[in-house]
Amino acid sequence: MQQVVNKASELLAGLDRGESLPSSWYTDPAMTEQEIHKIFRKSWQYVGPTQQLKDIGDFITGYVGEIPVVIVHNENGLEGFINVCRHRRHEVMKGCGNAKIMQCRYHAWTYDLCGELKAAPRSDREPNFSTSDYPLLPIKVEKLGPWVFANADPDCRPLESYFGQVLDIIAESGIDLDNLELWERSEWDARANWKTMLENYLECYHCPVAHPGFSAAIDVDQDSYKLTAYEWFSSQVGYVRESALEGNAKIKTYDAKGSVKQAQYHLLWPNFTININPGFPNLSVDVWLPNGPNTGKGFSEQYFAPGVDKKWAEELIHFNVEVGNEDDVLTNSVQLGLIGGTPSVGRFLTNSEHLCIHFQKLIVKAMCD
Ligand SMILES: [Fe+2]
Repeated sequence: MQQVVNKASELLAGLDRGESLPSSWYTDPAMTEQEIHKIFRKSWQYVGPTQQLKDIGDFITGYVGEIPVVIVHNENGLEGFINVCRHRRHEVMKGCGNAKIMQCRYHAWTYDLCGELKAAPRSDREPNFSTSDYPLLPIKVEKLGPWVFANADPDCRPLESYFGQVLDIIAESGIDLDNLELWERSEWDARANWKTMLENYLECYHCPVAHPGFSAAIDVDQDSYKLTAYEWFSSQVGYVRESALEGNAKIKTYDAKGSVKQAQYHLLWPNFTININPGFPNLSVDVWLPNGPNTGKGFSEQYFAPGVDKKWAEELIHFNVEVGNEDDVLTNSVQLGLIGGTPSVGRFLTNSEHLCIHFQKLIVKAMCD
């Protein structure tokens, strides 16, 4: 790692010239281990939607840099805890739902919704044991629009200071974030490094080549499809093609008519993406995680405005799945190239792949901090 740190300025200068990070950053288990600590435990990680936390007792669970977390709506509002029992470190809560207490299913140590340990069977016979010594440990929780994030770094900056501006850009698409309903949530696995996948997400240079259906619906021309790097998030904005609206697209696509005229694809540092397609109000989000260096995992949530036509919703989901499958073929193949390790460094086009360059710079800065 010391060698990597010393090379930071060299790597950043290389990125300005379009030279990518070396392949070992995508294949070395030690790099993934460092990323957990330096990236995922130092950044805001998405856990779940506010609509699952409306009532007192509602809770959701997730992971922040592999640390199990539970977010609960208690008498103080939303509070986050490390979801690990102080006894034997079993996870306390599973999934999501509504609960009156938080009880570990291993030995029934029982915490209240504020994380205080209220009961530990047989502890009354234990010398020097006080339940007040073993509350669940706290973790920071904040909201962005309809989404709840947690951060394992107690000194982290507010979530809004990183991403507040993205809410204004989303509003320009015609989406009202307060008027979306969760349609489904799914988990996935992938055969590529999480960064390989996100760098594919961050450019549409490959769209005309690899996504014929997508490119028939969205104008992916270099002069109309805009990619903008902000400090902590990146945005891509495209427009629906007239031919798609008229039903004359080169390739049959979903019906893109509706109040949303823009396509928007945002990456919020380091691993949360927001996707909006033209048509009836729709939005999906994804969380992208490492699963060792050469494989990835994550989850996705699909949202629609109320009253969506079921058949249309399924068509749009199918459209997104098709694009995702086409991307998987690409990123699986890139990962094989990276595993080979030669050539170690790739060459970005600085006019079409500047969001990838920006992302890699954030990676370098986080890893060498
Ligand atoms: Fe793609």
